Amino acid sequence: MTEVLKHSADATTVEEGLAIQEEQARFDSAQATAVAMQNTLLTPRFYTTDFDELDAVDVSNVRKDWDTLIARMKSDPNKGHFKKNEDWDDVDWENMEPDLKKEFIDFLISSCTAEFSGCVLYKEMKRRGKNKDVTQLFQLMARDEARHAGFINDALREAGVAVNLGFLTQKKKYTYFRPKFIYYATYLSEKIGYARYITIFRHLEANPEYRFHPIFKWFQEWCNDEFSHGEAFALLMKTDPRLTSGVNVYWIKFFLTAVYATMFVRDHQRPVFHKALGVDPDWYAYEVFKKTSKLSEQIFPLTLDIDHPRWQSTLEAIYRANVDLADATKKKQILRKLGAQLRAGWGFFSLMLIPSKRNDVPVSTCLEPIY
Ligand SMILES: [Fe+2]
Ligand SMILES: [Fe+2]
Repeated sequence: MTEVLKHSADATTVEEGLAIQEEQARFDSAQATAVAMQNTLLTPRFYTTDFDELDAVDVSNVRKDWDTLIARMKSDPNKGHFKKNEDWDDVDWENMEPDLKKEFIDFLISSCTAEFSGCVLYKEMKRRGKNKDVTQLFQLMARDEARHAGFINDALREAGVAVNLGFLTQKKKYTYFRPKFIYYATYLSEKIGYARYITIFRHLEANPEYRFHPIFKWFQEWCNDEFSHGEAFALLMKTDPRLTSGVNVYWIKFFLTAVYATMFVRDHQRPVFHKALGVDPDWYAYEVFKKTSKLSEQIFPLTLDIDHPRWQSTLEAIYRANVDLADATKKKQILRKLGAQLRAGWGFFSLMLIPSKRNDVPVSTCLEPIY
């Protein structure tokens, strides 16, 4: 560590970014860290995988697109971007409406954990790999996610509730996913992350009176990073046609449904936050699903039918089951809890039964962030 504390936004490697975060960790909040430590179906998890299998990927058949993408990421257009500057307005945390403050902090902690989850997975892949293409990509993505997580943590630190990221790395439970599941889940979380950030950014661009916190001003460049990460996973999947055919089509449907349903339930748990943003969570969910589905046509052979008559009502039923589940868990009502779990599970199964739409995957995979 240098004596002059640099900012994680200027870090050129993930290691440097994390060292700066580590230095600040002595001020971090035990309470926020405890929230980030939670592992439920709805909270962001940390993942581990078969790194050797991932390391064996051969990108020859996507070489041209791969090199273009890596060159763009290496040029590092967002270096220095993720830190407070003159555009960062003062936030009156003291006088923020308590319900909004609670939901907003919850949103920030959950976003920070999700960003950091990407960071630890990508960093570990970079550390373990020997394949130059793979390690280079994962180093670049880990660099970005360390900045993203660090920036959200800066915002949390102002409210006195920053997450101790070093502690999370050591102590949070890691869930094992085979590489192909990492591809589906991570590809989708990058693309849905892009769609979420850009939808909020465009909405606040048109309606700046709802921008109650300066962090939203950073969302455009932010989502472009996520977009590139998604592109990388699309290319990784493109290296092996088996990943998007045969029985894997059902896995893709499963992951699409799980990611969409999780987002719907999570966002509906924050009504005050969305009201403050001037965003109707149903409109927002539909917008984000629509954009993500359109993007995922670059690689997935199917899209979900989000206009099916049962889609919205079933998501609402799953949401209600989750509210009951949380309440029953708190009150230690075992039978009610079991009932709520069954209802949520049935809802998910029912979403899976909605016929999906077939998609002919284009020859050329790469997309530009157009939203
Ligand atoms: Fe990110
Ligand atoms: Fe990302």
